[in-house]
Amino acid sequence: MPEVPVPFVAANFKVNKDGSEVDAWFRQFGEANVDFPGTIVVCPSMAFISQSSRLIEDLNLPLQLGSQDISQFGLGAHTGEVAAAQIKDLVQFTIIGHSERRASGETDEIAAKKVEQALEAGINPIFCVQDENTPIPQGVKVVAYEPISAIGTGNPATPENAGAVAQSIKAKGDYIVLYGGSVAPQNVASFLSQGPVDGVLVGGASLDVQSFLGIIKALTK
Ligand code: PGA
Repeated sequence: MPEVPVPFVAANFKVNKDGSEVDAWFRQFGEANVDFPGTIVVCPSMAFISQSSRLIEDLNLPLQLGSQDISQFGLGAHTGEVAAAQIKDLVQFTIIGHSERRASGETDEIAAKKVEQALEAGINPIFCVQDENTPIPQGVKVVAYEPISAIGTGNPATPENAGAVAQSIKAKGDYIVLYGGSVAPQNVASFLSQGPVDGVLVGGASLDVQSFLGIIKALTK
């Protein structure tokens, strides 16, 4: 993986926004003329990956693009799946192993196959773990610590907890570690103030572009 500057901020739109809302988000982001020293990755629905890639290019936005998932399979007879090889020219990152996917049956083994597919296609996984015990497949460089109790609840982990778990993850390898779960403009700096946390994975607070810009601003020194 090429050098990835931190702070690292990833926006996970989940299954929100239609095409015109995605369009508006990128255009409004562009109007803010963001000058951020780190990395910003936006992960819209698969349906809008091509559109988002074009917007980033046309508007010359300082953004990387990510998918929210990727198939565990390669090209072939896998109806409804999207293979890493199909989007490798559009995205630089993909989220893998998000707890919302694990909740619908994704095992550690499946997540590991997805990592393999992503890496083979040259896509960098943002690998989600629920704690320091979730196995991290070979080749992963970016790990997101996302305690289930914090996701979408408005009840984030404490910065101390995020820092301690990030530290344990870093003890296992040379990872960029993100914290995710109810991150908001008001609390984001507190997570980064813990040395081991290199960035954040933001769900709900990324949907409104002004709120997301607030997060970026809070991390811009
Ligand atoms: P949240 O989601 O910021 O809405 O809690 C985070 C995530 O699921 O990645």
